Amino acid sequence: MKAALISLGSISSRWIVDELKKKFDTVDAIDVTELEVRLGERGDAILYKGKPLPSYDCIYARGSFRYATLLRAISALRSKESYMPLRPASFTIGHDKVLSHLKFQENNIPQPKTHLVATVEGGKHLIKEASFPIIMKMPSGTHGKGVMLADSQESASSLIDTLALLKQPFLIQEYIDTDGVDYRCIVVGEEVVASMKRTAGKGEKRANIHSGGKGEKIILDEKIKKVAIAAARACGLDICAVDILPSLKGPLVLEVNLSPGLQGITGVTGINVAEKIAKYLFEQTEAFKGIRKEEMLKQLQPEQEIHGALDFRGNRILLPEVVTMASKIREDDEVILKAKKGKVEIEKVGKREKVKE
Ligand SMILES: Nc1ncnc2c1ncn2[C@@H]1O[C@H](COP(=O)(O)OP(=O)(O)O)[C@@H](O)[C@H]1O
Ligand SMILES: [Mg+2]
Repeated sequence: MKAALISLGSISSRWIVDELKKKFDTVDAIDVTELEVRLGERGDAILYKGKPLPSYDCIYARGSFRYATLLRAISALRSKESYMPLRPASFTIGHDKVLSHLKFQENNIPQPKTHLVATVEGGKHLIKEASFPIIMKMPSGTHGKGVMLADSQESASSLIDTLALLKQPFLIQEYIDTDGVDYRCIVVGEEVVASMKRTAGKGEKRANIHSGGKGEKIILDEKIKKVAIAAARACGLDICAVDILPSLKGPLVLEVNLSPGLQGITGVTGINVAEKIAKYLFEQTEAFKGIRKEEMLKQLQPEQEIHGALDFRGNRILLPEVVTMASKIREDDEVILKAKKGKVEIEKVGKREKVKE
């Protein structure tokens, strides 16, 4: 089976490629910055370094929010023929905190009270009634960079004026006092395969490792794991990280992360997360291929065409199993094979005579 990992080439992505290579026959590391989607032409026009992107059994696409729309397009074009652990819409949902909070709401996933504000007036009106401190967030920030704490109406008001300069909607969220602690959970399929407790550094409320947070091993209770898995499902993600605040009211989901870094969590837990991801991708791809074959068989009319790439064993063409099944040609059949440049025809003409002893 063939797999591709689309990414920005981080160390975490390289770890996953190395683990995928232990399972898949071939693995291509694709640089997301060299991909291009062409619409308005016949068929699928995904170009990589200017040439058509080959077919894969599995494509795992990672990348920052800058590439969300591109990856959504690629996923929409390829998820019928390749197993992709992130649904097309999840690229835009997961990279936007507003859309993620909406999905949590639709699926009854507990989250902090969050308001979306699009204007300075709206924001200023809201903070008049707020109890401080409050959190303000950019919808697409990561590593804690778009998260701000305002401890009074004055500081909130000046933050709103600054945010207005960016001409972007922003979030106003209740501050959950956890002593700077949050939980990072890595969800792979129906499991939380690794988790850590992160504690914000001194003078800091953000627990992100990039903001100086420290991680430690933690055993999560089942309730928190369930919430993490539900958040991933709600956003259409088979693989992701989920950030959760352990509040007095129970676990509250902050966000999902589509391309979580693996270095921190692997170091803290000693769990080979890249291997868990690769194993899951391999198993899901096998299952996906099985279902796809069944669907193709069901749809197959006597004259139906099968599109796709061919397998080769050295110089020999190995035809897909669906061809054997649809043609009902058996090993002991006599056939005529016609081949010319770019075309092969196989026709059954009868049974092969048994070779006399
Ligand atoms: N509502 C909140 N109450 C308390 N702490 C918060 C809240 N929102 C975020 N934080 C802190 O800020 C960090 C970053 O927030 P998060 O929403 O995960 O954004 P990012 O995408 O930047 O990681 C969290 O890990 C948490 O420590
Ligand atoms: Mg986060």
